[in-house]
Amino acid sequence: MTRLRVCEVGELEPGDAAQVPNTPPIAVYNVDGEYFATADMCSHDDSSLSDGYIEGDQVECAWHFAKFCIRTGRVLSAPANRDIATYPVIVEDGVVYVDAG
Ligand code: FES
Repeated sequence: MTRLRVCEVGELEPGDAAQVPNTPPIAVYNVDGEYFATADMCSHDDSSLSDGYIEGDQVECAWHFAKFCIRTGRVLSAPANRDIATYPVIVEDGVVYVDAG
């Protein structure tokens, strides 16, 4: 398991996302105080979902506006038609980590 440090709790505000450098990059989101992680790359083309628009537990790609469920990685709207990967998030001693596998 590769555990990557994301940030301290409180550094990522509810409704925000951060990109975690990795191969491939990972997006970590704060959804009303709960943390989730998905692949950062949109499954439609080359756009970073951590730069997208977050509404509740959905993220909308900033390029062509495909939507994904942040909790499950499921694609919710075109033009993307493939789900994205999700990753476990661990909060320990006030620090947010993602398990990159
Ligand atoms: S790159 Fe995300 S919808 Fe096109």
